[in-house]
Amino acid sequence: MEIIETVEAAHAFAASNRQRRVLVPTMGALHHGHLELVRVARKAAGPDGHVSVSIFVNPLQFEPGADYDRYPRTAPADEDACHEAGVDLLFRPSPTEMYADDRSVVVEENALSAKLCGNSRPGHFRGVCTVVTKLFHLLAPHAAVFGEKDFQQLAIIRRLVRDLNIPVEIIGVRTVREADGLAASSRNQYLSSEEREQAAVLRSALLEAADLARNGEASATRIVAAVRERIGSASLARIDYVELVDADTLQAQQQATRNSLVAVAVFFGKTRLIDNICLQ
Ligand code: PAF
Repeated sequence: MEIIETVEAAHAFAASNRQRRVLVPTMGALHHGHLELVRVARKAAGPDGHVSVSIFVNPLQFEPGADYDRYPRTAPADEDACHEAGVDLLFRPSPTEMYADDRSVVVEENALSAKLCGNSRPGHFRGVCTVVTKLFHLLAPHAAVFGEKDFQQLAIIRRLVRDLNIPVEIIGVRTVREADGLAASSRNQYLSSEEREQAAVLRSALLEAADLARNGEASATRIVAAVRERIGSASLARIDYVELVDADTLQAQQQATRNSLVAVAVFFGKTRLIDNICLQ
């Protein structure tokens, strides 16, 4: 596995590599969810293709007061995990390598970003769009892989490549879960053991929403109320939002359809977890 840390090396890699290149952008603290993204990337790259992982804790996507400083940084373990997973290239630039002090250009998506997490994390998706655009320019992948846990992020990145004509195929991957259903996330490691135990309520609440819809309940008000009630049964949970939205537009819906998604963001202590389920 090759490891590169500079913009110059990334450009040189993209210019010289003629294989099908698939990128897995990450912020490190790799867990089995990321390894599933790598597995899908390998499949998408094909037998002669090339899989890159980028690890960059992107300061631009952390709103002031968020967990940028305490975000887990586990470089040696991440390097081992990439090596074992058969990654071909690891790109891990520093913040100064990625951003000039006087940088003045950002990339902003203005419709989907305003909803769901956009309300509680102003500027977050501008940071995501900016760094993802830069990674696409630097490594010039043919395809890039993102998890469906961050459903809104995935929708925004699809919009980003469509609207800016960036020739990168975006591949979404189903959420990987722990044994009790909690979505795998680098932030799970912040949870105390009691918070961790209670956080499983997110999955059971979302499954309850899917059950209700399957059994004919279409009222978004009633489905959202049931999810809120179930999450509220966990004493340490503090709901940021529970919403029933159209999976393409992320627009809130009054009535559930086959294209509806229930998305939640919930704090356990200082840790904000997100999850979602498609109702179908
Ligand atoms: O999902 C993430 O880990 C990040 O938001 C991403 C896509 C790597 C951009 O920093």
